[in-house]
Amino acid sequence: MALTIGVPRETLPGEKRVATVPEVVEKLVKLGFAVAVESGAGDAANCSDETYRSAGARIIEGAAELFAASDIVLKVGVPTTVEVGLLREGSTLLGFIWPAQNPELMQQLAARKVTVLAIDSLPRTLSRAQKMDALTSQAGVAGYRAVIEAANAFGRFFNGQITAAGKVPPAKVFIAGAGVAGLAAIGTAAGLGAIVRANDTRAEVADQVVSLGGEFVKVDYEEEGSGGGGYAKVMSEGFQQAQRDMYAKQAKEVDIIITTALIPGKPAPRLITAEMVKSMKPGSVIVDMAAERGGNCELTEPGQVVVKHGVTIVGYTDLASRLAKQSSTLYATNLFRLTEELCKTKDGIIDVNMDDEAIRGLTVIKNGEVTWPPPAPKPSAAPAAKPAAAAPAQKKSGGHGKSSEPASATSTAVTFGIAALIFWFIGANAPGAFLAHFTVFVLACFVGYMVVWNVTPALHTPLMSVTNAISSIIAIGALVQIAPPGEVRLDEWIRWLAVVGIVLTSINMFGGFAVTQRMLAMFRK
Ligand code: NAI
Repeated sequence: MALTIGVPRETLPGEKRVATVPEVVEKLVKLGFAVAVESGAGDAANCSDETYRSAGARIIEGAAELFAASDIVLKVGVPTTVEVGLLREGSTLLGFIWPAQNPELMQQLAARKVTVLAIDSLPRTLSRAQKMDALTSQAGVAGYRAVIEAANAFGRFFNGQITAAGKVPPAKVFIAGAGVAGLAAIGTAAGLGAIVRANDTRAEVADQVVSLGGEFVKVDYEEEGSGGGGYAKVMSEGFQQAQRDMYAKQAKEVDIIITTALIPGKPAPRLITAEMVKSMKPGSVIVDMAAERGGNCELTEPGQVVVKHGVTIVGYTDLASRLAKQSSTLYATNLFRLTEELCKTKDGIIDVNMDDEAIRGLTVIKNGEVTWPPPAPKPSAAPAAKPAAAAPAQKKSGGHGKSSEPASATSTAVTFGIAALIFWFIGANAPGAFLAHFTVFVLACFVGYMVVWNVTPALHTPLMSVTNAISSIIAIGALVQIAPPGEVRLDEWIRWLAVVGIVLTSINMFGGFAVTQRMLAMFRK
């Protein structure tokens, strides 16, 4: 029987988001689920009961009734003790949990014998998981909103203007930390016409900053800031000092600072000191997006807007919720994509498949048994810093034992030996005309292999577009073989081979064009 997905009204103070929106309710119904929404759940996100009802949801009055009717509960905020008590035994909960920070909640949930998928525990570096990445979608909204908050507190234009009343210089914005939220803030501030500068400890984000219209400001100290999984690490004292010097210089020059710097499992790094705030021009603004984790600025008061030394410091911890319709829509889509993964049969029944790497990472409690933390993830498809150095290290820790190395060396030697024999045989016996083509073919295979192998997996999609051109050449060759020019008639089997060649090439060509089209659509407005 089809399961019921329930969406309660969020109860944490100030939370305006809702876990699903009417557009997504329709999709959940198409997946075979019944959907129940607590009356008023979407009010703060501009989703009325009526819109949910027309999308196919049942409206239920009261949280207790909603939880009682739900086999699967979708939530945004971390559940309260009351909500945990309302969960039905055997039901499934999808939402933010933060298991490392909330051990007590984990115990309470396990005692209810429920299954819990924590959206914050998604293995983010898996390309397949990106569509479910609620941390990214919410950070993007928060980064945008941070700029809007800054603009609201700032007394001038962002863009430079020359008017009859005088010349207005553009605002200068400095973004500390260019992760998901920081990049969203850079794009938004640059879009409003400000001069944007940004800094991050991970050098790899410099290009991303520039591509969004910002300028990357380097710290005058050589140290790599990547701590694995795309995240930052705590930097050395020497680096921190050099970084403070650079930030102090920027603080004097810029009008707005937006800080987003976080390090997983650690308090937010202190980047803006009271001295730096003091040195800023009166009327300047700081938006501290790390306020909830202690703040990047010494003078931030979490959840508050304060004015210190003439500088407005915005410490809101609910930036995504302040754009409730947008963040709810993106969050609902993330949860829908997750539900799709859980219900591949599209019959309104879910299967929490622990062999799936993404689902395994998300599942923190399975039928009352705590399954968090998950086993260490397999090496990701993200670009490795030093592939050459990583390879021997992997071999050593691969668990195959020492005997596997000589064995693999022997098998490589045997493969090469056999290949050499085949080539020698072909060279000695094949006709000259064939040999010329064969040499080109072997070289093409080698070059193609080396090219594809050395391209970062993330770039394989654009690479596919390039292969269209190469495939088209194969199609011309195959067409010539089907209807050879002049008197020459070829054996039937060559024609059929040509037909197969054209079919395979066409798949690559049309598939490639379709992928290119979809890629370009992502950049069109
Ligand atoms: P975050 O919220 O943990 O950190 C924000 C930013 O602060 C990061 O860019 C970090 O490098 C920076 N930071 C930390 N300490 C700093 C310091 N002392 N000074 C200056 N900057 C500092 O990270 P977020 O935004 O959640 O993700 C960070 C990165 O993770 C992304 O930019 C991306 O590269 C990676 N990621 C990868 C995904 C994927 O491969 N599918 C998905 C999501 C994120």
